[in-house]
Amino acid sequence: MAYHFDTLKIRAGYNPAEHRQSVQVPIYQTTAYEFRDTKNADSLFAFTEAGFLYTRVNNPTVDVLEQRVAALDGGKAALGLGSGMAAISYTLLNLAEGGGRILTTPYLYGGSFDSFGRLYPSFNIHLDFSPNFNDPAKLETNIKEDTRAIFVESVSNPTGVVADLEVLAALAHKHGIPLVVDNTFGTPYLLNPINYGADLVLYSATKALNGHGNLIAGLVVEAGDFPWDNGKFPQLIQPEYVLRDRETDRKRGFLETFPDAPFVTRIRLVYLNYFGAALGPFDAYLALIGLETLSERVAKQVANAQKIAEYLEKHPRVEWVKYPGLRSDPNYTLAKKYFPKGPGSVLSFGFKGTQEQGDKFLNAIELLSYHVNVGDARTLIVNSPRTTHGELTPEEQQFADIPQNLIRISAGLEDAGDIIADLDQAFVKAFN
Ligand SMILES: Cc1ncc(COP(=O)(O)O)c(C=O)c1O
Repeated sequence: MAYHFDTLKIRAGYNPAEHRQSVQVPIYQTTAYEFRDTKNADSLFAFTEAGFLYTRVNNPTVDVLEQRVAALDGGKAALGLGSGMAAISYTLLNLAEGGGRILTTPYLYGGSFDSFGRLYPSFNIHLDFSPNFNDPAKLETNIKEDTRAIFVESVSNPTGVVADLEVLAALAHKHGIPLVVDNTFGTPYLLNPINYGADLVLYSATKALNGHGNLIAGLVVEAGDFPWDNGKFPQLIQPEYVLRDRETDRKRGFLETFPDAPFVTRIRLVYLNYFGAALGPFDAYLALIGLETLSERVAKQVANAQKIAEYLEKHPRVEWVKYPGLRSDPNYTLAKKYFPKGPGSVLSFGFKGTQEQGDKFLNAIELLSYHVNVGDARTLIVNSPRTTHGELTPEEQQFADIPQNLIRISAGLEDAGDIIADLDQAFVKAFN
């Protein structure tokens, strides 16, 4: 029986009968797993029997989270990692290992933008930041012989640029490369990128997926039908000693051995195994608890974000508001298509005043939390150009459309009237 989203978010990937009838998913706080006998050890290491080896590579609590998120997104498999950044970095390394290019936009989380431009080139992975994402014909000219993927945020941090996933997936597939979508701001409740052709979906589960500001975690979801054997991804095909058929001694590749999810399995057995950004079982447990209320939380956060955006849009001390739920926003039409339940809980606005007045405004905030996370149950406010996007040079900030007066709000679950009243009193204080 195919269950609906709200059932899956509470039950997918877990059967109490396999866990001593425990109703809640147990926290398997263990480093390793005892082999029943030498035959069991052999078959686990030959990958002919499913099971757990060592918590750096897999863990039963993390496994439930992986299965649950894969179910929520309609993917074949998922991989839990120690952070959203680990999900991004392991994915890009697994795609363009040994040298290659990734085509991306300037509208990204600051840590992504900065690392893409400055860190990855030293691994011979070059990120091409294209301004042509709203013009597919032009964008196509940015795809080069060694481009290995298109990478976008479904709705971008912090300016709410909505990616036209169907168009991007068609373009990527025409060139034999996958579409990778960081759906952190979307969450599987608001958007399933795989339904629009995405091949890999990434999450910082630190944000709204968990929603309580109490952990750092990441996930990679694999759709499961990308043709990795098209000649561009030899790392998924080449025969590996570790994957050899134990009876014939013939070496096999990742695609041959794990046809449903070769990509995330390779990340698990290579990058997670050797670079080691493992997700701990307790954090996976917290993420599972958070997921149980994903729809309820995000629905209210979206409603609050809309109310805050509408309030700000009318405020005389606000230069502009960016939230794709506003009719005035250039992303409104795309948001209606891809985010029928609302385009997330994050919005930004331009403070109309001097920097000193802007600082006074932020320092006068009483209820909202001033810090860099998003997707929390609490409403958060931050001056992104000096914090979350502070790594970007002034020229890069301009390219990424992050002016100095930008203030980002992540709508929480408080009463919308209280949130707006807090902003209101801070505006008054800023100009007194
Ligand atoms: C869109 C997006 N992706 C990824 C990340 C990184 O996630 P984490 O902090 O879990 O490493 C962030 C963090 O802010 C983000 O906003």
